Amino acid sequence: MNKLALLGGSPAVTIHKDFRWPIISEAEIQAVADLLRSGAISDAGYGDATRRLEEDWAAYLGAEFALARVDGTAALHSALFAAGVSAGDEVIVQSYNWIATVGTILAANAVPVFADIDPLTLTLDPADVRRRITPRTRAIMVVHLWGHPAAMDELNALAREHSLVVIEDASHAHGGIYRGRKVGTLGDIGVFSLQASKALPAGEGGLLVTHRREYFERALLLAQSPGRLNLHLQLEEHRRFKNTGFGGFKYRINPINAVLARQQMEHFEERNEIRQRNLDVLTEGLREINGIKPPYTAPDVTRGGYYGYPIEYNSEELDGLPKETFLAALQAEGVEIAAERYPLMHLEPMFAEQNPIGGGWPWSFNQATRQVRAREGDLPVTEKLHPRLLAIPSYNKAIPCEDLFAQYVQAFRKVTQNIEQLRTWAAPNGHQRGNAE
Ligand SMILES: Cc1ncc(COP(=O)(O)O)c(C=O)c1O
Repeated sequence: MNKLALLGGSPAVTIHKDFRWPIISEAEIQAVADLLRSGAISDAGYGDATRRLEEDWAAYLGAEFALARVDGTAALHSALFAAGVSAGDEVIVQSYNWIATVGTILAANAVPVFADIDPLTLTLDPADVRRRITPRTRAIMVVHLWGHPAAMDELNALAREHSLVVIEDASHAHGGIYRGRKVGTLGDIGVFSLQASKALPAGEGGLLVTHRREYFERALLLAQSPGRLNLHLQLEEHRRFKNTGFGGFKYRINPINAVLARQQMEHFEERNEIRQRNLDVLTEGLREINGIKPPYTAPDVTRGGYYGYPIEYNSEELDGLPKETFLAALQAEGVEIAAERYPLMHLEPMFAEQNPIGGGWPWSFNQATRQVRAREGDLPVTEKLHPRLLAIPSYNKAIPCEDLFAQYVQAFRKVTQNIEQLRTWAAPNGHQRGNAE
């Protein structure tokens, strides 16, 4: 009964669920069909589909302004432009991240400065952010990674002290709550991706929110055609550009995606709660198991979305069992699990070599008055943790599955209590017991 499935035993996981994400019901199909029948499939001015989504999202968050964009990446770029980030500026950001949260800093012609993370929440460590601030720092780009809100009070305090703008990338954390307030509204500008795997899935889409008209209008100016610029630019310094914007770029959302996002709003909190309940079963069970640490959630926050479920693997507690062998054993037991998929940005050639298209843009701009380059060893917490991280896909687990996760816990227990069976097992790709992570 304890024979590991990797060696021919019976798998611990016997329950199979038909997980689907996004969940598309008749209501979504009907809403899109209605839109198609109306013919309003492009938003040259300011169409109802976009307006309703923006109004509803702003009302839900309690934000003054919401702006729907073609995707989350466009919303991030718009946020940086709105914040006035430009050539020679530095933006502090974490390296363990999605590419766009860092890459859009380059799109704003600015230089990313990598800061370390808190080992529990995996989000920016305010003490390390403080160490990285220079006279060139213009903004802090915060990501609520895997749905866990970052330490916003401390980061906002730092920003006030040094006159920085705080942009929150809440693309993993729709509906998350930090000390009683919704994520996305805690900094100066908040951004949400609505890509199909996110907690509020529109297929593709993004939302930017802010309390300040100045930021809203500048975000519009970056990439909106004149129809809407004419309607929504009020500040004189911006109205001058109502016929051109910043040159005709176009980041507006497709109305079909806007309709889908608004329809999904009806369910997303309930689905967040189901996902949370499921994952709580896993977290409770895994807490007692040697060699692994389930994700930490601070007592004064509610995770939004729970976009990912990161587990820390400590092979030292399991007699040096290589991560790859551990993963293979769990997968054979029927656990859907993989090694962490986000690379560390500061070690990727794009950011390490600082010469993506020749000429060293944007690090080599005249306005960049100092050399900024993160090297291996510069982010000790991030670099120590990252190779240990395993991930269970969680965003699609929005139907009750406590029973399945109870079996996952059994599978973890079975593998960790029987590691001696793996002593002679060699993975087909050559990984062997005793190899370093
Ligand atoms: C943290 C984070 N920010 C931004 C984005 C970009 O959003 P989009 O794919 O909608 O452009 C993503 C997408 O995966 C993300 O995970």
